Amino acid sequence: MDWKNEVINNIKWNGEINNIEQKQKIANKICKRVKNGEVIGFGSGSTSFLATQAIAKRIKEENISITAIPTSHEINMLCASLGIPTASLNQAKPDWCFDGADEVDSHGWLIKGRGAAMFKEKLVMKSCKERYILVDDSKFVDNLCDKFPIPIECHPESLCYVKNELLEMGAESCILRLAKGKDGPIITENGNFILDAVFRNIDETFEQKLKNIVGVLDTGLFIGYNVIIEK
Ligand code: A5P
Repeated sequence: MDWKNEVINNIKWNGEINNIEQKQKIANKICKRVKNGEVIGFGSGSTSFLATQAIAKRIKEENISITAIPTSHEINMLCASLGIPTASLNQAKPDWCFDGADEVDSHGWLIKGRGAAMFKEKLVMKSCKERYILVDDSKFVDNLCDKFPIPIECHPESLCYVKNELLEMGAESCILRLAKGKDGPIITENGNFILDAVFRNIDETFEQKLKNIVGVLDTGLFIGYNVIIEK
């Protein structure tokens, strides 16, 4: 029996998608990679949203069967609304995954997490070897933190300690991310806060250094993930 309401069957992107034409082209490209029987990690954000819609169209038209591992509630709900079967990482290992990014530098290092979903995105990316990053031209930067800060997801009780550590590591700014549609700080899907920090001293050890701070669940800095850039 089906639920008789629209809450899942009418999932739309919240607001306008910028650079939508380029993002749609990339979405149409990535959906061609999908093969019958695959388990695929689905990223979050507007480009992944469009990619999910494109994949749903293709699997319907060509009667392809796949399993998605979504990286956020939003993409999980979108999969439900489009009839794409999902599984958790504890049930299946992805053959490959796709995701968007906020910044990409010349090494292929990334900043992610504008939508606050970076922990599961990283977990899914670590769980498979073939990783496609879907990025329009606006995402390429000379240096990470040129346009976006690094989101640091931390336990609420660790806020002052973590901020102190980030400043000691050289953060130029470090701001608690506030929610829209809720008073106070944003709460991640893991029940944590986010500190958005700008650094000018990022090197290949930096992701691990941030992760070593007690209270940090993970960050939106992705260094050395050997990603394939789709643009
Ligand atoms: C979600 O938290 C993010 O990591 C997104 O993947 C990233 O912000 C890219 O989003 P867009 O595809 O909307 O630019």
